[in-house]
Amino acid sequence: MRQQISFDYELFTSEDELDLKFRQLIEYARDAVKLSYAPYSKFHVGAALLMANGEIVKGGNQENASFPAGICAERVALSTASSMFPVEKITAIAIAYSSPENVDNQENILSPCGICRQSILETIDRQQGNIQVLLTSPSGKIILLENASHLLPLAFSSSNL
Ligand code: THU
Repeated sequence: MRQQISFDYELFTSEDELDLKFRQLIEYARDAVKLSYAPYSKFHVGAALLMANGEIVKGGNQENASFPAGICAERVALSTASSMFPVEKITAIAIAYSSPENVDNQENILSPCGICRQSILETIDRQQGNIQVLLTSPSGKIILLENASHLLPLAFSSSNL
C-alpha cells in the first residue's frame, strides 16, 4: 500500500507580510545570534522561543573544542525554557544565523538539524501543544511552518512503541 506524506509551508520574501508577533520573534532570534559561541565553525545561530505566557527565551549555539560536545542554538533555547518555565508551553520558535565567512549566501534559509528536530518533537509530545516555526535567511526571506512536527515525518517517538 503506497502512502505519502506532504506538508505546506509559507515562503515570505519580506518580514512586512508577517504578523507583528512573528516579526518580533524573528528580531529576538537575530538578537540571540549574539549569544552564539562558535569559534570553530564561525557559524553563529540564534533561536528565540515564544512561550504561552508571552515570555521570550533565547539561545545561541555553544561550541566546544571537542566538537561533538557542541550544542545547537535550538536545543540551548529549549533546555533553557524547560529550566526556567517547566510547565509553560512553547508556541513558536524563530531561528536566525550569521555566517561572516559565507557572505555570498545571504539568501539561504537555515533549517534545523535532525537532532534539533527530534528535540522539538519531544517538546511537542511533552507539552501536548503545537509549535509554529519561523526559519530565516540573513537577507530577510522567511519560511513559516504551522506545525513543527512536519519537520520530522515518521519520527521516532517512545509513545508510539
Ligand atoms: N547549528 C545550530 O545551532 N543550529 C542549526 O540548526 C544548525 C547548526 C550550529 C551547530 C554548530 O555550532 C554550527 O551551527 C555549525 O554547524
